[in-house]
Amino acid sequence: MRIGGEFEINPKDLKGLPDFSPKSNILLYSNGRSALMAILSHIKKTNPSIIHIPYYICPSVVFACEASDFQIHFYELNSSFSFPIENLESIKKNEVLLCVNYFGFIESNLLFQRIKEDRPDIIIISDQVQSFWKNEDIWPDYSFTSFRKHFPTPDGAIVVAKNTELNHNKYFDTNTFFWPKFIGSVLKHYHVHDSVYLKFLKEGECKIDATNEITKASEIAYYIFENTNFETIKQKRKENYKLIFELGTKHGLNFLFPYNENTVPLCVPIILESRDSVKASLHSSNIFLPIHWPLADYNSTSLISQRMAEKELSLVIDQRYSTAEMEYQINCLIKSL
Ligand SMILES: Cc1ncc(COP(=O)(O)O)c(C=O)c1O
Repeated sequence: MRIGGEFEINPKDLKGLPDFSPKSNILLYSNGRSALMAILSHIKKTNPSIIHIPYYICPSVVFACEASDFQIHFYELNSSFSFPIENLESIKKNEVLLCVNYFGFIESNLLFQRIKEDRPDIIIISDQVQSFWKNEDIWPDYSFTSFRKHFPTPDGAIVVAKNTELNHNKYFDTNTFFWPKFIGSVLKHYHVHDSVYLKFLKEGECKIDATNEITKASEIAYYIFENTNFETIKQKRKENYKLIFELGTKHGLNFLFPYNENTVPLCVPIILESRDSVKASLHSSNIFLPIHWPLADYNSTSLISQRMAEKELSLVIDQRYSTAEMEYQINCLIKSL
């Protein structure tokens, strides 16, 4: 049994690809970063290039804002992992506010409604990269998500824009990272030695980090987007989430968010005092759990970012895993405490 790590790709799942041409004319971007940059380049045409983002954020979002020449103002989240509404006045006319649906657990519709009613000038971007199923909330001006954290695809991201179209009048190149990511994911499927497929996945990450332009998705992402049964995946994730929450609660695990049957989580965060040693000892049981996120220079003074960087561990509950694998994950975790 092996739990965690990037998705593998079974070439059989792409058997229609050689004859495929996308049915819809939706533009898919290469990843969350590209989607965000596309939104920012659209906003920039008519608004000041100033964006408010949470301190607790992954470096790729900061990178996308900087690459789009936006001035960044950081804000500290409140205890519900939301933008503190009492700080609304710190946002000047027509500036941009980015809010994140962390792990898929943050319900922001009421907050967005209040902001829009009080300050319709503020442009809201909802970052739904960790929540594929919430991308179409009604209040934000823009929301975006990314596919590769949710499905076996090397790339792909989508933007939903309200009352406007991201009319770029421009041709975007297809990204170059999808190819090494694809090869690595297929090799992983064929159980080659870890060092072999990881070399390709790493090469893909390096290519992502080296790109500061908006790029579009590969045909593989279009194919996956049009041929995936999202409903089945959603149900499986919800089942695994429910099970892991029940098992974890029995053993007294400290879940960051209470159980919510409407949530389709990316993964399920818990807080552990001895997070690093637990994470390391799980490796010997072939369990590789992610953390969100290590501290960076822009957020080293943020208390929430510090706590998460030190103590958060993400339990995986995605569609790859059976009930037995969920039980194995919890049993190994409890043993390593
Ligand atoms: C909340 C959030 N936003 C944006 C991104 C960037 O997405 P991508 O890696 O697809 O560029 C990530 C990536 O981890 C993320 O977690």
